[in-house]
Amino acid sequence: MSVTRYPGAAITGWGMALPDKVVTNADFEARLDTSDSWIVERTGIRERRFGGSTQSLGVEAGRAALARAGLEPSDVDLLLLSTTTPDRMVPATSSAIHAEIGCTGAAFDLNAACAGFVYSIVNAVAMLGIGYQRALGIGSDTLTRITDQDDRSTAVLFADGAGAVVIESRPGRELICSHDLGLDGSLASILYCDHGGYFQMEGKEVFRRAVRALVDSAQKVLDEAGVKPDEIALFVPHQANQRIIDAALHRLGIPADRSAIVLDRTGNTSSGSMGIALAEAADAGRVTDGDLVLLSGFGAGMTWASTILRWGT
Ligand code: ACO
Repeated sequence: MSVTRYPGAAITGWGMALPDKVVTNADFEARLDTSDSWIVERTGIRERRFGGSTQSLGVEAGRAALARAGLEPSDVDLLLLSTTTPDRMVPATSSAIHAEIGCTGAAFDLNAACAGFVYSIVNAVAMLGIGYQRALGIGSDTLTRITDQDDRSTAVLFADGAGAVVIESRPGRELICSHDLGLDGSLASILYCDHGGYFQMEGKEVFRRAVRALVDSAQKVLDEAGVKPDEIALFVPHQANQRIIDAALHRLGIPADRSAIVLDRTGNTSSGSMGIALAEAADAGRVTDGDLVLLSGFGAGMTWASTILRWGT
């Protein structure tokens, strides 16, 4: 879908939350038939965090983003929670976060798996176009609750965490330069989890499709915005596997040192992942006013999503 004009907006705050409990590869080595070298070589993950709830991590990340933006919770009139692991079936976890933080206005959950953080940014900006003023976009997941900790093929990958951004209406200011939201629902069987069950994953097939989805979607937003790869100041990919990220960087022609990586310390936190990586990079001063930031993710569905943002307020 091509869009000629996006509602004016700016990201004015960002934040993240990780549980305290660190689980290292050595911890898995001690109880599963796996090794630190296998996990590092095949995934890039060295440690990850376990614990918390989707609500508690979402609240912590959301509050951090509001503090960074210098806003009160009551200034927020729209809360979007991207999650694949809502704490309850009903009500939506966004409503619990909304109450605990003390936001006003609307709140809803969206589930686009690991691409969800980008879906929430694009949806938030679209909602600013119909009159909302300040959106809190949170990606929060507690994947460990739906991961079989005795299954070495998934246990070493998935973890818990949340990221958040505050997006404020700024008429006339371009935040989104281009976006791509998509999915192929016929690929559900390669990565799914039934109610009460655990992740079932065809790792190799997910890997193959993920590289293609990431590259195609990112290339689409580059083309649509008329941006060359070396004009991207920061690439924030979904943090699932370092080899997927490396393959995408190589094929897109984006220099490796432009990417935001937290995977080695967080594992795959699904909806949390891009928000955490973005917040860490922003805190480190890796983006300044006017910089172009490319976010690109893929996930169960199979979903994908990319957007190019112009950083700054
Ligand atoms: N330790 C040691 N051996 C392992 C482990 C482990 N933790 N896990 C699997 N193996 C074994 C397999 O059993 C297999 O053994 P076999 O040859 O005797 O059958 C061997 O290692 C090779 O397995 P592959 O699956 O071929 O290994 P591969 O190099 O593909 O890496 C991995 C597996 C890491 C899962 C990779 O395929 C991958 O990252 N896929 C993408 C997963 C992903 O990104 N999922 C998230 C999607 S986003 C979302 O929505 C949550």
